[in-house]
Amino acid sequence: MIFSRIAGTGGYVPGKPVSNDDLVARGIDTSDAWVRERTGIGFRHLASPDDTTHGMAAEAARRALEAAGLQATDIDLVIVATTTPEMVFPSTACLVQHALGMPVGSAAFDMQAVCSGFIYALSTADKFIRSGSHRRALVIGAEKLSRILDWSDRTTCVLFGDGAGAVVLEAAEAPGVLATALHADGSQTGILSVSAQMAGGEIVGNPFIRMDGQAVFKYAVRVLAEVGSEVLTQAQLPLEALDWLVPHQANIRIMLATARKLGLPPERVVVTVEQHGNTSAASVPLALDAGVRDGRIQRGQTVLLEGVGGGFTWGAALLRF
Ligand code: UT7
Repeated sequence: MIFSRIAGTGGYVPGKPVSNDDLVARGIDTSDAWVRERTGIGFRHLASPDDTTHGMAAEAARRALEAAGLQATDIDLVIVATTTPEMVFPSTACLVQHALGMPVGSAAFDMQAVCSGFIYALSTADKFIRSGSHRRALVIGAEKLSRILDWSDRTTCVLFGDGAGAVVLEAAEAPGVLATALHADGSQTGILSVSAQMAGGEIVGNPFIRMDGQAVFKYAVRVLAEVGSEVLTQAQLPLEALDWLVPHQANIRIMLATARKLGLPPERVVVTVEQHGNTSAASVPLALDAGVRDGRIQRGQTVLLEGVGGGFTWGAALLRF
């Protein structure tokens, strides 16, 4: 039987950290106290015009390959989860394939599930590998969210940041990915969206993030606790077996409420929202990489990854790291 395991992780954030006070200095009607208290965010990274979604994705992927001791030529599948693709087409994954010098002919495609995108992509890559069709995948979450932020809307612009995270997922004899679950509720499109489209040579509709923060908050806490229990049950593991929860990094209050509902102590939650803000599809792999590089997440430990976001979408992946 073929399983998949994470062979290496990598992360990349552009430029210098931008503090809440920096945003105030730029004229945004907010305060460090409000943003920290309501969200746990202290800083975010904002891409320059030269930083592209695929460029950040490729840099995170290079670091994941290095951590795995592999070359781009060893990879036969690349999936990029993104809400801010470079262009309508070709996919960001095709641009990454070329930027990394991956073999021509290897499969490459994008995955769109907003902030759950990395979990959707990881679950998909796991199924490709377990089917035997592919041996080594780069699974990347990458976002240049600053492109779709309305800097006159303080209820959203202080929340988000740019960056990319990546893992190399490879075929293995023992399971690394123990269980995955993916869900969506298309009746909730209105609570979090960028509704614009390109039509007739123009942008039609609103090209910025619009969010009903409280509705998203309530929905997120409920489904993150549910889906965490779901994958533990699937893998027949008790909560006590869990070493780390690496949730989507949107709001510290959502993460701690999820941990509380699951019955997990707060010190078992990997939190990077303070440094990165909400980086949508990049947030889970960036947090995973941070936990691995600072030595908290060790080989052999059990790790629960969780995503939630627009769509509405949510999902989880339970790993033996
Ligand atoms: O990645 C997708 C998932 N997204 C999320 O998970 C986000 C989920 N939602 C949230 O994290 C929270 O709902 C927010 C952080 C977005 C908002 O926190 P809240 O505690 O729900 O605040 P609120 O929207 O109820 O606003 C409270 C007050 C309002 O003022 P009034 O009406 O009480 O006078 C807002 O106008 O805070 C005000 N406010 C701000 N004040 C300073 C809203 N944004 C800001 C701001 N700075 N940036």
